[in-house]
Amino acid sequence: MNSEPQKIFIAVAWPYASGPRHLGHVAGAILPPDIFARYHRRKGNRGRMVSGSDMNGTPITVAAERAGISPSTLAQRMHRLNTELWHKMGFTYDLFTDTTTPIHQKLVQEFFLKLLDKGYIFKDTTIAPYCPVDKRFLPDRYVYGTCPYCAFNRARGDECDNCGRQLDPIDLLNPHCILCDSTPQFLPTEHFFLDLPKLQQPLLDWLETVGARRASPWRPNVVAFTLNWVREGLRPRSYTRDIEWGVPIPVEGYEDSGKRIYVWFDAVKGYLSAAIEWAQLKGDPDAWKEWWLQPEGEPAPSKSYYFIGKDNISFHTVIWPSRLIGYGG
Ligand code: MF3
Ligand code: ZN
Repeated sequence: MNSEPQKIFIAVAWPYASGPRHLGHVAGAILPPDIFARYHRRKGNRGRMVSGSDMNGTPITVAAERAGISPSTLAQRMHRLNTELWHKMGFTYDLFTDTTTPIHQKLVQEFFLKLLDKGYIFKDTTIAPYCPVDKRFLPDRYVYGTCPYCAFNRARGDECDNCGRQLDPIDLLNPHCILCDSTPQFLPTEHFFLDLPKLQQPLLDWLETVGARRASPWRPNVVAFTLNWVREGLRPRSYTRDIEWGVPIPVEGYEDSGKRIYVWFDAVKGYLSAAIEWAQLKGDPDAWKEWWLQPEGEPAPSKSYYFIGKDNISFHTVIWPSRLIGYGG
């Protein structure tokens, strides 16, 4: 028997604050971690469970436009509603926060600057779908079309919900604007990119020791999906979007440029910012460190378990770890 209590960090995927969450969300990625957390606490282990509302990005702006209210009003309203719901369900989060807190925004910007400084982020001009009728760029959910990999005909600009692939809008066959259905033009626009090819080898080395080793706690489909994608060769991914709502880009000339950090690149950092906020709230601001920082030559500070939906895999097994490697390495 193991007498030392284990430290278990439970990271629950952050639901979009785009609408009230339903039983499907609860059964999928929200109830299982709560059962898991209760189990570990009963066993005498130390469990910390954090999550929050994912407030940014096109899921929120599209829903807000449809409701005729601002993204901020919609997100705040849905965040309150969902928080109340978790409370009624008796969930035992140590903290359920959201991605508009100053702690989170600051961390997202600090990560960006560090990666930029270390050469893992570069600026480039790309071409992006632009609707000539609505006179705007169409990031992520504003454009849909047919997935070039699986032929699903409602794939979005950034990912295909059917096969889980990450996409660039230019990959879509037969693209359309979700606002007016017209065919977009492709126009040049400047963005920042995460240099994934540079991070590919260290990421693969890490994956081979963690996710892909024998007896790994990762689900087999997660391991297979991830290795498949990484071995195929990663392309740089755009870190920013043409959108007015989200975390501002902390670079001179970009704070007010109509561009923001891509929602996924902001949201996954919530696991860390929520741990920091939790520590501050309990009056022990350094308490997050024993869950996150691994001193040289020492074992991992805690075991982290991520509970995610199947369309969230690539962001958790490739994007988030490669940025942590880039930040720390
Ligand atoms: N909001 C996303 C979804 O509902 C999940 C985000 S998980 C996070 O699919 F870690 F990135 F926040
Ligand atoms: Zn597909």
